[in-house]
Amino acid sequence: MTTILVLNGPNLGRLGTREPEVYGSESLADIRDSLAGVVPSDVEIDLRQSDDEAELIGWIHEAVDRKLPVVLNPAAFTHYSYALRDAAAQLKQAGVPLVEVHLSNPHTRESFRHTSVISGVATGVIAGFGSDSYRMAVEWVLRHA
Ligand code: DQA
Repeated sequence: MTTILVLNGPNLGRLGTREPEVYGSESLADIRDSLAGVVPSDVEIDLRQSDDEAELIGWIHEAVDRKLPVVLNPAAFTHYSYALRDAAAQLKQAGVPLVEVHLSNPHTRESFRHTSVISGVATGVIAGFGSDSYRMAVEWVLRHA
């Protein structure tokens, strides 16, 4: 069984009701269900969410140690968490793929969202396609991991 870790940062547990005009009306559970539908039966989607930077960092460490590909929506941590970036850099060092995803396109929004401290250590970035950003990231992982 191959596992793809789909990690989600702060406030993404509120998807569905949080600013649906920006983030869509699907919940994280809906996103998990649709991702489970696009992967083969021997691939597990392990989707997690935390508002806690330390917990997210621990999950990245786990991915490094288990060599699990990561799809990461760092949410607001995207823009300022050097600690999360340093964790993500360990994925790069270990040769483990990291796809940064965003539901919205941060570059069309407030200027503080135009900077990602994660992108420089990500394998690639997919943003602006709503929940399809996650699907495209998982499809890429399936082809390349
Ligand atoms: C987000 C964009 C971030 O700027 C924001 O803080 C989020 C969600 C997105 O998926 O579009 O929480 O990562």
